[in-house]
Amino acid sequence: MLKRFLHTWLCLVLVGLLSQVQAQQAPHKLRYEYGDIRLGTGVRKPRLSWQLASTQAGARQTAYQILVASSAEALAKNQGDVWDSGKINASQSVYVDYQGKNLESRQRYFWKVKIWDEKGKASGWSKPDWWEMGLLAKDDWKADWIGMAGVVGEPPRSTQGRKEFPVRGKLVKARVYATGLGDYALQINGQRVGDMLLTPGWTDYLKKVYYQTYDVTELLKEGNNQIDAFLGNGWWSGGLGWGGGFHRYSQGPLRLLCQLELTYTDGTRELITSNTSWKIRLSPVIYDSMYHGEHYDARQEAKGTEADGWVTPVVLNTAKNQTTLFGPTADANANEQAATFDMSTLQVVAQEAPPIRVTETRKAVKVTEPKPGHFVFDFGQNMAGIVHLSIPKGVYGQEVALHFAELLHDDGTVAQENLRSAKSTDRYICKSNGGKEEWEPMFLYHGFRYVEVIGFPGKPTADQIVAKVIHTDFEPIGEFSTSEDILNKIYSNARWTLKSNALSIPTDCPQRDERLGWMGDAQIFVASSCYLMDINSFWAKYSRDIADSQHPSGYVYDVNPKMVVGGPSKPAWGDATLIVPWTSYEFFGDKRILETNYASMKAWVEYMNQHASTKKTGLYYFSDPSEQWFGYGDWVPVVASPSKPIGGAYQVYSNTLLAKAATVLGKTEDATKYAALAKQYTSKYNDLYFKDNNYEGKTQAANLMPLTFGIVPENLRARIAQNIADDVKAHDNHLTTGFIASQQILPRLSDYGYNDLAYQVATQKTYPSWGYMAENGATTMWELWNSDKEKPEGMNSRNHFAYGSVIEWYFRYLAGVEPIDPGFKTFRIAPKPPKDLNWVKFSYQSLYGPIVSNWERKNGKLQLNVTVPPNTQAELVLPLTVGQTATLAGKKLKTNTTTLVPGSYRVEIQ
Ligand code: BGC
Repeated sequence: MLKRFLHTWLCLVLVGLLSQVQAQQAPHKLRYEYGDIRLGTGVRKPRLSWQLASTQAGARQTAYQILVASSAEALAKNQGDVWDSGKINASQSVYVDYQGKNLESRQRYFWKVKIWDEKGKASGWSKPDWWEMGLLAKDDWKADWIGMAGVVGEPPRSTQGRKEFPVRGKLVKARVYATGLGDYALQINGQRVGDMLLTPGWTDYLKKVYYQTYDVTELLKEGNNQIDAFLGNGWWSGGLGWGGGFHRYSQGPLRLLCQLELTYTDGTRELITSNTSWKIRLSPVIYDSMYHGEHYDARQEAKGTEADGWVTPVVLNTAKNQTTLFGPTADANANEQAATFDMSTLQVVAQEAPPIRVTETRKAVKVTEPKPGHFVFDFGQNMAGIVHLSIPKGVYGQEVALHFAELLHDDGTVAQENLRSAKSTDRYICKSNGGKEEWEPMFLYHGFRYVEVIGFPGKPTADQIVAKVIHTDFEPIGEFSTSEDILNKIYSNARWTLKSNALSIPTDCPQRDERLGWMGDAQIFVASSCYLMDINSFWAKYSRDIADSQHPSGYVYDVNPKMVVGGPSKPAWGDATLIVPWTSYEFFGDKRILETNYASMKAWVEYMNQHASTKKTGLYYFSDPSEQWFGYGDWVPVVASPSKPIGGAYQVYSNTLLAKAATVLGKTEDATKYAALAKQYTSKYNDLYFKDNNYEGKTQAANLMPLTFGIVPENLRARIAQNIADDVKAHDNHLTTGFIASQQILPRLSDYGYNDLAYQVATQKTYPSWGYMAENGATTMWELWNSDKEKPEGMNSRNHFAYGSVIEWYFRYLAGVEPIDPGFKTFRIAPKPPKDLNWVKFSYQSLYGPIVSNWERKNGKLQLNVTVPPNTQAELVLPLTVGQTATLAGKKLKTNTTTLVPGSYRVEIQ
């Protein structure tokens, strides 16, 4: 009896333990598509990813099963009524294609996954996750585009639409699908809807606009409700480009498309849509422009309800003449019936990349009063963002002005000269006498570190003017630190510069009258950004922007979405068409980014290959009609290099990347064709530009580009690397490169035996160097090596990420981590410790789990700690010098290259 009892007990314990083990091993971190948008998605064939939770050495997936269900209940019963993949024998755990039933508008789908491990043992099911479709068909939209007729201008005035409506009973869910031209911000019953900013984001508005989806169930109540839509100019009609921002997609009127869908408990659905039943008026935002600022007259906030006329107190502050200066007349402020607009040729597409959000709030580190009544707030960090204003006691009609700047004059007031024509000034007019007032702008952002406040009622404190950092809200995934302070400072500067220049699109700078999607800057920084942030979807969206604006003849534009600058794009700028999607593919394994953009990539390459210059000389070059100017070249260098060869160098590189993309996509003919063309252009490049063991121009940049793109014949590579190293030494261990070749200099020095020289350049503190910027007050990357010495007016931003590409070397060489197979399915850990550096710490949240590469010099030994996540494999390449030996977990290694299966390892070299 006892024996039987013990046996049963033991079995139960074992089963319990087993299920516990299984539960532990259940996959986690489920990810729908890019992991950012799962409410209101438009992807008909989504991809699903997960991570293995096991920390067992060698943990690997051998099979998986995915269930997708139409309800949480069905999924809990393991019923994959939408898709049951069955057991699929594959190790793929990232971007697995959904292959179930057709997905339907508005439907929420629930899914989970289980895996079989390296021993063939099944895990438990993962925790469930979900996604919800947006409006997939044009027909789903019942709303009209509405606006306030006749309100046009440069820029047009902001307007406010309003609709009152009843909710007749209990709701199961309520969704808003909305977009605008330009920006819109919604309120329901006076509360802000969602936390996305500057919606709908920047696209080629002539073709496409994104819509956003909001869950508003909690904002509604039974009985009367009210929805307000504030419309502002954003990128659509605010004015873009230098000289005051005269380029715009439209002069207005501003438009809204909004569909609120109520689903009641009895299953009925009711739609509240934007149409002529909405009332519309001028909003209290009396002026708004991305560059110049937002002006808000709080006295013009709408009072009352539609029924009592939705009155606005009309103010004429004759003493200051403010309302007549910016504001509407009494008549223009009356609410009207909304007008409708035919926008049927515009594609309305579900949002594809993460929205802009506030990611951090910062208080000033210092507040000064350089002039009576002028208070200067120093936030200690250059950034892109807005400020929130809190006025404890309003003074009716009083205007508070906020002037934004990156710099200060010697007298302590803000210096706006380098913003060129951008006025970067927000204004707020108080609505009360003695009341507490709060405000922040809705339709813009500024690039700033300092704010000068004038007209504040009383003396503002650090709590009353607070900075909100805003940017496209991607997750940080890379962390790097080292024993050398100057490298940490430069790293921080580069990271902040990325955050300041990712606002719906990658911009060149966030502050002056520019802030455009320059492709050269983007392609130079794309790899660095992929080490820092979970930024796949941001680049996927930008690649679409490039393709959306592409000219029918195949050429692309320097700036995307196309605006301000005419085509065709210049060498090293246009090639972002290939470099951006290819790099995203390498880092995240996103094959679809190649599929979606292949035609656009090929069209740009064909444009170069078929160009008259290629026909004439056998190699592409860009030129103006007079053949005097050959493109931007190695932009903003210390020593200029000839620009003409850069066309050919990038032609080789782009043909090479196209051939690689063709291989991935199984387009074998193209793969062969473009690989052969790359070879042909390579040899032409050497015919044209190589002489006396040097490349035309003989500068660092002139030698770096052919070396980087594999143009230099193998037997000459060491020699060309030596040219570069010699030139660096001749400049007292300084670079002379512009922002294209600066990405290449440290990697090539390290590749060819000059790692310690690379380190000296990397840690240099005298001009020109990254350290020089950091030592001279930079908290973000400067546009020029000598931004501090150049005149303030003109082209001199303190927040340009192009030179930030130096940090790619920190990750690839100091930490030594880089993908071999796309998405880090296999990857390399090959740190190259410079002799003067004591330690490096690097971690990276890959789509498979955390990768670690830390090393430290201790007691004459080099200790290396690395982590390889489950379901991946790493190639460890040790920096062994002659006579050194290495041990891995106490065992001596025979070679300097070892394959590592998942797990954590400690290696010692002495
Ligand atoms: C931008 C650069 C850009 C360049 C083109 C500048 O005005 O700020 O970063 O790439 O123009 O040469």
